[in-house]
Amino acid sequence: MKPINVTKNARLSVAPMMDWTDRHCRYLHRQLSGQALLYTEMVTAPALVRGGALHLLDHDPAEHPVALQLGGSDARELAQASRLGAEAGYDEINLNCGCPSDRVQSGTFGAVLMRDPGLVAECVTAMRDTVDVPVTVKCRIGVDDQDPEEVLPEFLSRIVAAGCERVTIHARKAWLKGLSPKENRDIPPLDYDLVQRMKGLFPNLHVSINGGIATLDQVEELLDSGLDGVMVGRAAYHQPVDVLAQADRRIFGSGCDSTAEHAVAAMLPYIERHLSEGGRLHQITRHMLGLFAGRPGARGWRRTLSEGATQGGAGPELVEAALGHVTALAPEAKAV
Ligand SMILES: Cc1cc2nc3c(=O)[nH]c(=O)nc-3n(C[C@H](O)[C@H](O)[C@H](O)COP(=O)(O)O)c2cc1C
Repeated sequence: MKPINVTKNARLSVAPMMDWTDRHCRYLHRQLSGQALLYTEMVTAPALVRGGALHLLDHDPAEHPVALQLGGSDARELAQASRLGAEAGYDEINLNCGCPSDRVQSGTFGAVLMRDPGLVAECVTAMRDTVDVPVTVKCRIGVDDQDPEEVLPEFLSRIVAAGCERVTIHARKAWLKGLSPKENRDIPPLDYDLVQRMKGLFPNLHVSINGGIATLDQVEELLDSGLDGVMVGRAAYHQPVDVLAQADRRIFGSGCDSTAEHAVAAMLPYIERHLSEGGRLHQITRHMLGLFAGRPGARGWRRTLSEGATQGGAGPELVEAALGHVTALAPEAKAV
């Protein structure tokens, strides 16, 4: 498939999330919004290049526009991995400079790269020289004792000079010592003002903000404040309908709203196909648990799916049974 220009899609994106935004999750999210940009989980460049784990690039054509996030810090290896990603059809290659996990630190990539903007620029240059699709960066505002006011403009100016045209900034520091990856997504304080000031300093850089954004109202406010894009992570996973079902109309100005029921109906043939290829129901339905979040019957939906989907032989009829909880309890609440 020919790559598409995804800059406009980056007005709203769903964040890369390890173990969460796998291909099944992205397919589900695509049923709710035709236009939001979707990111893969981080795939490490060594896994692709040295490990030959090309199955990590598998995705469905329906997922487009979809961006591949890479982890790594070796410019040549990242360039090779980018080539593999572009050949597999991804619309964008994103370099992870924000992930604080131990495993990632030991491989010298992720947030620790905030300390080495020269190396990041070298990596971006090598990646851009290799692929035609956009190369973007996802970063933090700094790490540990760094002063974000100083290091973030320096970091951004280096990647801009290397030709990066789009960045997503998770608006908090990563504290690399003493906090778990999960704590690093909540404890360091958010600083949206700083991200907004960076947009002022780099007017030609497409800046997306990330961190703690949970509603489409917030997305609209941040876009109205002059930012180019908003990336939503956990809220998009846990309440996908709230974040995505009205996004095409409200954020992109075209298209109709979707519903949880529509998404379920669209997932059934996808589930059939996955099962016929030897897959398990749970691999897909684990991402669907939040579809009816906040609606009467949501608990029955979740319970039916989480208790039944791991049983041998479980199939689409379980999803239909789970749906019965929602419609039986709240027929009037079917429209989103
Ligand atoms: C389960 C999980 C896995 C994550 N994995 C990645 C990852 O692979 N790459 C990355 O850049 N960020 C990762 N993140 C961070 C998110 O992309 C995002 O920056 C963070 O959750 C803050 O956004 P939010 O408040 O909207 O969730 C992960 C977050 C979660 C919850």
